[in-house]
Amino acid sequence: MKTEAFQQCIIPYCGKKYSIKEVRTACDCGELLDVKYEGYFPKSLQEIFRERRRHRGNIFNESGVWRYREFINFVSMDTENYNDYCQKLASIDGAEGRTKPFHLTKVAEYVGVRTENFLLQFEGDTPTGSFKDNGMATAITHAKMVGAKKVVCASTGNTSSSASAFTANELDMEALILVGEGKIAKDKLAQTLAYGAKVVQIKGDFDDAMTMVKELGKERDTYIVNSLNPFRLEGQKTIMYRVLDYLNWKVPEWIVLPGGNLGNTSAFGKAFMELYNLGWIKKRPRIAVVNAAGASTLYELYNEKELRWNNGNPDNDIVDEYYLELDRKGLKARTRASAIEILKPVNLTKALRTLEFTDGVVTRVPDEDILDSMAMISRNGFGCDPASAATVAGVKRLVEEGEIEKDETVVGILTGHMLKDFKSVVDYHFDPKNRFANTPLTVENNLEAILKIL
Ligand code: F0G
Repeated sequence: MKTEAFQQCIIPYCGKKYSIKEVRTACDCGELLDVKYEGYFPKSLQEIFRERRRHRGNIFNESGVWRYREFINFVSMDTENYNDYCQKLASIDGAEGRTKPFHLTKVAEYVGVRTENFLLQFEGDTPTGSFKDNGMATAITHAKMVGAKKVVCASTGNTSSSASAFTANELDMEALILVGEGKIAKDKLAQTLAYGAKVVQIKGDFDDAMTMVKELGKERDTYIVNSLNPFRLEGQKTIMYRVLDYLNWKVPEWIVLPGGNLGNTSAFGKAFMELYNLGWIKKRPRIAVVNAAGASTLYELYNEKELRWNNGNPDNDIVDEYYLELDRKGLKARTRASAIEILKPVNLTKALRTLEFTDGVVTRVPDEDILDSMAMISRNGFGCDPASAATVAGVKRLVEEGEIEKDETVVGILTGHMLKDFKSVVDYHFDPKNRFANTPLTVENNLEAILKIL
């Protein structure tokens, strides 16, 4: 099965189209771009997707990204011809996106939703330990398609790890990474270095690094893999395909996720818009985006300044004024959830579109709640990073506020692995003042003392 694809400005009254082979991260009018498809997507594909889970050694069926290749077919592959797609697609041995939603009883109890209605999908369970591998599979596929050799990104650590692993896995690509010095967990920095990327630390934070990357993108021969690249977001749509696939295409009431650069928020919304327009789903889930309190631009713009998508006419003056004020006051993002320590999310406009389409909500949670939630998730035997735990802290808050009802089905996305930010885990558990701290006990080196404490 083949599909035609093109790029198009997200703003309806502009709607300018570009070839799929153009490398750009914005329309001439300055707004973001979507990847669009013309093709035939019969509902019988659901059966094919399910059948591919029994992959029989085909890594592109094993891959939770490429299993849904008909929906992300911008390379115009013949989806039934292994030799064709095998040559065109980027993958780390089919290991990206092998996730599915599951029940966590103790966390359900903690947030106050019925266990049978509460699911989490652990996107840290991927080759480089974060959801970014979903998007990097498609971004690097597009980079291959256009013959790019030098991949560049700004990062709080996960994009960089993923970009450097995927480029290392290609024969003729290299990665250049810009990070804020001291602004990325050492674990993620180490990972990025180990995969062989060239890392430049700037004296600034993620927002500063992102500004620089946009400038670098204007240079010839650099290919940006941050989430303003529309091809990145195509891969991240598959996170939602897996949720639906494993729920037999029954749409949950809520999808809850952390918000940083708002790539996932945008990608998830696009996935649902496309499925809705195709008639695959009749209901829209409500998307809840959770900001860390110290990096809550979306929360403030959406809830306090009432910024809306407004049929593709968002009031950009509100945003400009807000950013000017941040700059005037010299305000910087500040949270222990360093992965989402972002004040100027590049996908803001797309996220507004998602919120409108899904009647979404935005909440924010303090670091204390994030870290308690992280500890609670681990008590269920799963280890995520602080940004992921914002999801659970957000569900708890929305339940307490009566926004999410106890009987509604809630699917939360955990975006990164515990080992991505080990210091946060150690700091939490070695401080007995923390609510769920599991501090080690120290005793004399004799059996009596050990037995006494047991
Ligand atoms: N969770 C984790 C673990 C992340 O690494 C990120 C973003 C987010 C959530 C936020 O996702 O941007 O789609 O809203 N990390 C980026 C990075 C910024 O550079 O690794 P988003």
